[in-house]
Amino acid sequence: MDAPQDFGKFPADFVWGTATSAFQTEGNNTKSDWWAWENSTDSQETKPLDKSGAASDSYDNYEVDLDLCKELNTSAVRLGIEWARIQPEPNRFDTKEIEHYRAVLRAAKARNLKTFVTLYHFTIPTWFAQKGGWLNLQAPMLFAEYARACVLEFKDLIDVYITINEPQVYALMAYTVGTWPPNQRNLLKASIVQLNLIRAHVKAHKEIKKVVNTPVGIAKNIVWFQKSPRSSNILDVLYAKFRFWLNCGFFFDQVIKKCDYIGLNYYFTTQYNNLRVDNEDDFNSDIGWWIYPRGLYNTLLKLKKYSLPIYITENGLANALDEKRSRFIYEMLLQCLLAIKAGVELKGYFYWSLIDNYEWHQGFWPKFGLIEVDRFQNMARVPRPSFYYYSKICQSGNINQ
Ligand code: BGC
Repeated sequence: MDAPQDFGKFPADFVWGTATSAFQTEGNNTKSDWWAWENSTDSQETKPLDKSGAASDSYDNYEVDLDLCKELNTSAVRLGIEWARIQPEPNRFDTKEIEHYRAVLRAAKARNLKTFVTLYHFTIPTWFAQKGGWLNLQAPMLFAEYARACVLEFKDLIDVYITINEPQVYALMAYTVGTWPPNQRNLLKASIVQLNLIRAHVKAHKEIKKVVNTPVGIAKNIVWFQKSPRSSNILDVLYAKFRFWLNCGFFFDQVIKKCDYIGLNYYFTTQYNNLRVDNEDDFNSDIGWWIYPRGLYNTLLKLKKYSLPIYITENGLANALDEKRSRFIYEMLLQCLLAIKAGVELKGYFYWSLIDNYEWHQGFWPKFGLIEVDRFQNMARVPRPSFYYYSKICQSGNINQ
């Protein structure tokens, strides 16, 4: 694949990585709300397509996964800590699980990988859910206590903290669309949850900073919105701007002062024609998302005004046959380079995901991994062709491979 030769190179200190989350990969997170929900017999509730079960069994295979990160030539890894493992009861922090995560982080360090660690990625302890979860006004304080325990236990092993993954997606899926537990459809509750997640980040940021001066931020999903080329309706321009503002400006204006960097999760773009979604059909993932790499560039340029370092903490696609993934990576990285040239302080890129994992309510069929996980053959890890493509980029820092 080719770009102008002199244009393909990233800065030498650019961080190359991959991302996963705890619940989606570890398996057997029996103390988390999602586990309770997927195993409950309440027939009224919507259920996921599959139960998470052993997921990708990364709990036992973390050394194998980290070896693969090394083989990929990445310089960093984003992984998650499962809150319910660390704090299975309100007043108990589990020393065995703390030691497990210390071993995982030590194993990453031993492979020279910088550790970007997510403290909360959609799943909460069941005891916390029983107290009302993120609707409880005490929730931010409870989360800050957990964050404090994490910083005290892992401070020597974490390079970058990601307090919360995609707060708006959680509020949407759990409290607006209602597909995720606790299956609510209530805009007022969704707003309270979002506000509490922001408060939780602010409190956790404070707790972490009391102990270390390590960067702390949020991984924020941002969708790029625009008018469809087939539209001549000014309302589509206005609506796209409004949706982007809700997704980005409205959120960051409340919390940016307590972010040391911006974590951007970018996946897709949405276009409007007479206020209806009107996307192209030229480059789509297995789950139908419209891949529009220029949307990443446009988003990065909008984030420039915050004058903070930016990491792309997630970017990837579901593509079981892997015939689109290398092109996807190339085109996204090309937009990253263009953004850097335009003055965006983009410091790193994490492909989602290192391995196939549990894609929430959609179960196991969407395949986001650079590495296939054969769940029927001992969880065997099989790198896809795009793994080798990305590994060359990570090694050379150049997209011309
Ligand atoms: C989430 C991941 C998810 C990915 C792909 C992101 O919104 O952080 O947990 O697997 O998108 O859907």
